[in-house]
Amino acid sequence: MDRTTSGRAVRFGLLGCADIAARRTLPALAEVDQARLVAVSSRDAAKAADFAKRFDAIAVTGYQRLLDSADIDAVYIPLPPALHAEWVEKALHAGRHVLVEKPLSTDPDTTARLLRLAEERGLVLMENSMYLRHSQHAAVRDLIAEGAIGEVLGFESTFAVPPRPESDIRHVRELGGGALLDVGVYPLGAALHFLGPELELVGAVLRHDRRRDVDLSGSALLTTATGAQVRLGFGLENSYRSHYGVAGSMGRMDLERAFTPHQTHRPVIVLDRSGDREEIILPAAHQFRAMIVEFADVVRSGRRPITSATRSRQLAGLMAEIDHRAKRVYH
Ligand SMILES: NC(=O)c1ccc[n+]([C@@H]2O[C@H](COP(=O)([O-])OP(=O)(O)OC[C@H]3O[C@@H](n4cnc5c(N)ncnc54)[C@H](OP(=O)(O)O)[C@@H]3O)[C@@H](O)[C@H]2O)c1
Repeated sequence: MDRTTSGRAVRFGLLGCADIAARRTLPALAEVDQARLVAVSSRDAAKAADFAKRFDAIAVTGYQRLLDSADIDAVYIPLPPALHAEWVEKALHAGRHVLVEKPLSTDPDTTARLLRLAEERGLVLMENSMYLRHSQHAAVRDLIAEGAIGEVLGFESTFAVPPRPESDIRHVRELGGGALLDVGVYPLGAALHFLGPELELVGAVLRHDRRRDVDLSGSALLTTATGAQVRLGFGLENSYRSHYGVAGSMGRMDLERAFTPHQTHRPVIVLDRSGDREEIILPAAHQFRAMIVEFADVVRSGRRPITSATRSRQLAGLMAEIDHRAKRVYH
């Protein structure tokens, strides 16, 4: 069956009226010529009606009813992580392309199985790792390739945010809560992006909240085959930090607001070579829009997103290993 959209805009449906959809993804989608929001679904009819009005779409009560609608090509799934697998699978069986929020699922076997299913059915399945689509990361890569800091010897990254409300999905184990799955994906994804797939886990710590039974912060140490060291931190109970730094034999580069820069923010790479400090100011970019453009282009072209699938598999594997091997400190 031809799964391309023959040049017209990709017609999207939304599964779940999530905060991230309202704040970031749907406003970005509205700016993309190759994509059009057609329908929104919620477990709750009033919520669906509210979103439908705000984003000029049809309201549907129930996710399955939206999947059964004939007028969509793709779905965007911003459900709690533990529900991703069920609804990605149902969407693929309904013949829809899928853009799913991070993490793609809560375990590597399921992620691999869903990516295989998408491939078998000739459908696109992509994880919304929009944080890697910002042009600032290409600028960092170019500087590394030009030898601006010499040989890469280390990578540090932290993504940490202040406490969320008690009822937040991140605090509920059954919904796939916890800091590793929620914010750990960003520094890990960045480490894979810059240092490649051969990262080996050396050790990790997870600070585990006894009452809620989820990890609220953690850190991990990894190494490459040549001994470049990767130190990562993540948390849901911290002051805000969104940073990475690359250390080399001749200097280092640091980037703040690395993962969630606003679309108007002009990123600043701080390049420091033995105290000789330079600020490189980059153009603003809209990473959510870039992600939707990429997804829509892939759907329309009939190509398959091999790099994205490989990265999702690697990320899921590393997260499971951290979860399995970390020293858990209960408090
Ligand atoms: N890429 C990014 O920058 C980014 C940023 C934040 C979050 N995220 C990801 O986006 C996803 C959603 O996060 P969020 O903060 O937007 O969450 P949220 O506001 O709590 O939204 C989750 C939605 O899932 C639906 N849902 C279905 N069953 C549910 C249940 N048992 N409990 C709670 N909600 C349920 C609800 O929609 P209905 O009530 O309408 O059915 C709810 O609105 C997560 O996977 C998260 O990791 C990504």
